[in-house]
Amino acid sequence: MGKKFHFVCQTCGEKIEGFQEWFANQQKCPKCGDSKIKAVYSTDKERLRELVEDCKKPDSLWHYFDFLPLNERKNIVSDGEGVSPIRRWDFLERFAKDKYGLNLEVHVNRNDYSPATGTFKDKGGTLAASVLKEQGIKEYVVVSTGNTANAFAQYLAKAGISATVFMPQDAVRENFVHIGSIGQRVYIVKGDYAYAKKVAAEYAKSNNILITLGNLDPLRLEAKKTTTFEIIRQLKKMPDVYIQAVSGGTAPLAVEKAFADFEGTGILGKMPRMLFAQGSYCDPQVVAWKKAQANNFPDGWEYDYPIFENPKTLVPTIATGNPGLFPLLGRLVKRTGGDYFSIKEELAVDMGRLIAYEKAVKVGPASAIGILGFFEALKHNAIKEGESVFINMGEGVRRSLSFVEELSYTIEEITSAQEATRFDREKYRDFVWKSFM
Ligand SMILES: Cc1ncc(COP(=O)(O)O)c(C=O)c1O
Ligand SMILES: [Zn+2]
Repeated sequence: MGKKFHFVCQTCGEKIEGFQEWFANQQKCPKCGDSKIKAVYSTDKERLRELVEDCKKPDSLWHYFDFLPLNERKNIVSDGEGVSPIRRWDFLERFAKDKYGLNLEVHVNRNDYSPATGTFKDKGGTLAASVLKEQGIKEYVVVSTGNTANAFAQYLAKAGISATVFMPQDAVRENFVHIGSIGQRVYIVKGDYAYAKKVAAEYAKSNNILITLGNLDPLRLEAKKTTTFEIIRQLKKMPDVYIQAVSGGTAPLAVEKAFADFEGTGILGKMPRMLFAQGSYCDPQVVAWKKAQANNFPDGWEYDYPIFENPKTLVPTIATGNPGLFPLLGRLVKRTGGDYFSIKEELAVDMGRLIAYEKAVKVGPASAIGILGFFEALKHNAIKEGESVFINMGEGVRRSLSFVEELSYTIEEITSAQEATRFDREKYRDFVWKSFM
């Protein structure tokens, strides 16, 4: 029997047998030294059709084991992640109808339900912990703005693997303490995300410890690829439009990987139009995109992007100031006929309130930016009559208590019953919608 999967170096085409060889070579191609590899599976691609036609709700993304880079099921470290419900949000559909006259289907991926840490980063967490366990690795370095850090720290803890986590100093405080509380090591690096990456890489190299490779790490990309499978399994079709708050770009690149893997099978349908949102105080990809667009995409436009050093942002979770993968992401947006939007970060609280009011769902600031991307897309006429929209909403509020405090607007202190007045929550409707009408 052939092996379940191998890697192919994207730069020189060298075949790499699996994680054992990959890790032994410090996650570099043994021939050319580059770190961009693609996982290739020997499983018959038609097997995916059976998996997505399965009507029973899977226990976790390990439903797609045949297309994940792990050899043996016994090494799975899972918490039921990766199969969060995709729900239609009627208030978004009503808004599109009332304000723009558009009949849309709007689907939101409720990754806030993810059992382990309440974000879509749990997908990478389960795969990383399982693979590291399979390879007998005991120590690992993670660098992240917060959500990946938490997911990896938690799943590695579950697998008995020590995680040393480096985070930029402006990361949400709850992110540090959640990791600290489960006994994984946290370093708050005095500097921005780019600097934290540099410090972490130096530490990993000098101590000869494996480290997260960033947005193209197969441990993250392969796991997130399953989002595409879940869309088909749950919606029975690929939506016309995909919206997300982007930082490094793992999730959209994982969508692209899924489409590349299953090209020609017809299982996934047509790649959606990619609409990306970035917070206004750290939006280098939007700046690069707008410039390229204004100049009619001149040769080399993908490589002409600004680097924001020490961005002062209200949403540090998605603040990648040096968008090294813009060449890939920008091309993806162009190829699918998509667009980029800069989102006024001050609106994150207003959006958080609106969602909480309309759905009784509390989302984190990065998710609010993603939903605001939908509003901005409508404003720019980027969604057409009759289309279906998928919003990949990344996080809940489990580690954004300070954000929830900002959302809250109904609390009063009293000393007697006479001070309390009759209540009708309808009276808040105009208030929560005021920024959006
Ligand atoms: C909640 C949330 N949304 C969006 C993103 C952006 O993810 P990416 O650009 O890597 O797909 C992140 C990543 O940090 C996140 O934590
Ligand atoms: Zn190579």
